[in-house]
This record gives sequence, C-alpha cells and structure tokens, in this order.
Amino acid sequence: MTRRARIAVLGAGWWSSTVHLPALAGNPRAELVAVCDPNASRARLAASTFGGRPFTDVDDLLARIPLDGVVIATPHTTHFAAAEAALRVGVNVLVEKPLATTASDAWALVELARERSCLLAAGLTYQYAAAAPQIRDAVQTDIGELRSINAEFSSTTLGLFRVVDPEDARLDDAAAPHGTTYSDPETGGGQAHTQMTHLLGGVLWAAGRQAIEVSAFTAHHGLAVDLVDAVAFSLDGGALAAASSTGTTPPGVAPRHRIRFHGTKGMVEWDMLRADAVVHLEGGLMRAIDNPVDSPSYAKGRVTESFVESILDGTPTPAPAFAAAASVALIEATLRSAQERRVLEVSQAPAALFDSLPS
Ligand SMILES: NC(=O)c1ccc[n+]([C@@H]2O[C@H](COP(=O)([O-])OP(=O)(O)OC[C@H]3O[C@@H](n4cnc5c(N)ncnc54)[C@H](O)[C@@H]3O)[C@@H](O)[C@H]2O)c1
Repeated sequence: MTRRARIAVLGAGWWSSTVHLPALAGNPRAELVAVCDPNASRARLAASTFGGRPFTDVDDLLARIPLDGVVIATPHTTHFAAAEAALRVGVNVLVEKPLATTASDAWALVELARERSCLLAAGLTYQYAAAAPQIRDAVQTDIGELRSINAEFSSTTLGLFRVVDPEDARLDDAAAPHGTTYSDPETGGGQAHTQMTHLLGGVLWAAGRQAIEVSAFTAHHGLAVDLVDAVAFSLDGGALAAASSTGTTPPGVAPRHRIRFHGTKGMVEWDMLRADAVVHLEGGLMRAIDNPVDSPSYAKGRVTESFVESILDGTPTPAPAFAAAASVALIEATLRSAQERRVLEVSQAPAALFDSLPS
C-alpha cells in the first residue's frame, strides 16, 4: 500500500478548522492521526469532524502517537514550545506564521531542525503559490545587484486586534479566532506578527538576504497591540528597504500586498495577492510571470499538501525556516525599535548555523 504521512495538528481553532484540518482530511497521501488543543471540546469537535484522536496536551500526544509531522496553528507565543517539543523527538514541523516571536527562539528552532535532520517549514501562505519560486528566481538572477525594496501590506484586520474579554472569548466556537489570540501582546498579537510577517518573510525569502539594521514606527490607535507599522531597514549585500503595513483597510476596500525589488539591471514588481509579477529590464523590456490559471493565487490549501510532499518525496518547502526566522528577527527588532525610538541591529543567524546551511 502507498505510504501515507502520519500528521497531527496542534491547535483546533479558526485557521485549523477552516484550512489545515479539511485539507489534511481530504489529502489521500496524509493520515490525520491526532488533533491537540488544551480546550478539550475544540479538540473533540475537530477530531470527530476531521479524524484522528483528540488530545489536550502536546507532550502526551508526542509520547503516545508515532508521527511523521505536526502542523502547529496555535497562538503566536506558543509556536516555539510546540515546535521545539516536536523537533526534539525527531518529528517534522510545519509552523504557522510567525515561526516564533523572538529571534533567539526562531534561530534555536532552525538549529534544532538541522541537528535532528527534520523539516521545519513556515505557513507563509504567499510563498506556496505556484508562481512564487519563479518570482524569487527573477529577483535573485534577473535584475542585477539588489539596491532598494518597497513593500506594502494592507488588510482588514482591525477587528482581530480589539481586546475581547476573555470571559467572552467564544471558547467553544472554532469558527472564529479565540478572543485574545490577536489582540493581546502576551500572545504575540498585532499587525506585525499577524500580517507584516507575510510581507517581511516574502521580502527576505525572495531577496535571499537577512536584515542588518532597522528603524521603525508603530501606531496602536488605542489598542494594546500595533495596528500600523512603518519600517526602514538595511540588508546584507547593501540594499535598503522600506515596508509599511496597516490593519485599517475598511471592509470593501481592496487590500494591497505588494513588493518592488529594484536592482542595477531591472526591477521586479510582485503582487502577492495575485501571485504574479512583472519583471522590468534595461532597455524597456518587460516579462510577465503569471500564476497558472488552474492554481490558486492564495494557496492556503497547498500549505499542508506541500508539507506532506516534502515528508514523503523530499521536495524542498517553499517556505524554509531560515528566511522565516530572519523575518522573526526583523519583526522583533522592528517592535523594539519603535518602542525605544532608535535604530537597532537585527539579530543575525549564528555563524555556525549560517555556514552549515545549503545556499
Ligand atoms: N497563513 C495564514 O494566512 C493564516 C491565517 C490565519 C491564521 N493563521 C495562523 O494560524 C495560527 C492560529 O490562528 P487561529 O486564528 O486559528 O487562532 P485561534 O485562536 O482560532 O486558535 C488557536 C487554538 O490554539 C489552541 N491552543 C493554545 N495553545 C495551544 C497549545 N500549546 N497546543 C495546542 N493548541 C493550543 C487554542 O485553544 C485555540 O483553540 C496563528 O499562528 C495564526 O497567525 C495563519
């Protein structure tokens, strides 16, 4: 019989219940063997709807159930401990964005994954679009030396960041996020960790670079977490970048998720929402990179499918942990820079780790 990847899902909330669990349940190459959530009724509901055994404790699950991979879709500040626990016992990990909320945690996960020869992939959805690797290749090979990057990410996320009384947190309603997942600084809420992570992850992944220094502003507009972020940063290799992100887009107004990479020989304009790009070259030449018509531009269903393919076939993940960790380091420094109102260095990958990775 064809081998199927044995997968557990940690977190049975909104994103798992609407995206990862149905995608895994419908994937003939995956076997959903367990679902874990400290909220027992969410765990039971998810297991009875999609399959697998319900658990309320990650360590208990890891001790009892042999696994090929775990998918982590829990509040941001819980990503590190869950991923670390799985990697320690040699299980491949797909972590929703952000990979972690501090640079030291993010680099520790990359290091642990390398030590245990495990896959560590991030749920940076835009990188899973079929055209995304071609767009990254254009940035790295077609436009000469990278000099400047402009990036913007707007979204209708204000509602997620409003503080909800934990007593009224719709604990049993997996159709909506838990009331404090995105609105509490303690759980890693706010626009930077929730949304700008897609943008900065995309910038660093496509450029194949790490950030070096950062200067940032954030605005909270009465919330406990950041709602609007503006950040200027330098990259290794000498390029300078400016990125902004806002959660204030009113319903019905089109969001924009766009990055322009300017090089010495041309420019790539990546529209992340459309999953396409235009490459502008010297002499007025232009080349379009289109996403295939039969392939979704917002490839949320591809995320676990690709994880299963990587486990079974050894295909590389489109969202490798190294770039995702570099974006965590940039976001941590962004939030601190805004708070301390000064230019800060961004944590770099430890040299030993950097040298040991394939380019
Ligand atoms: N890639 C995307 O575009 C995208 C979109 C939405 C959400 N997400 C990500 O998915 C993740 C989950 O978000 P959500 O909206 O589903 O939140 P949610 O609040 O609906 O669900 C989180 C669930 O995790 C559970 N949980 C808390 N600690 C846990 C632990 N240690 N182990 C297992 N479960 C635990 C909670 O009880 C809750 O049921 C976040 O990282 C979020 O950023 C990604």
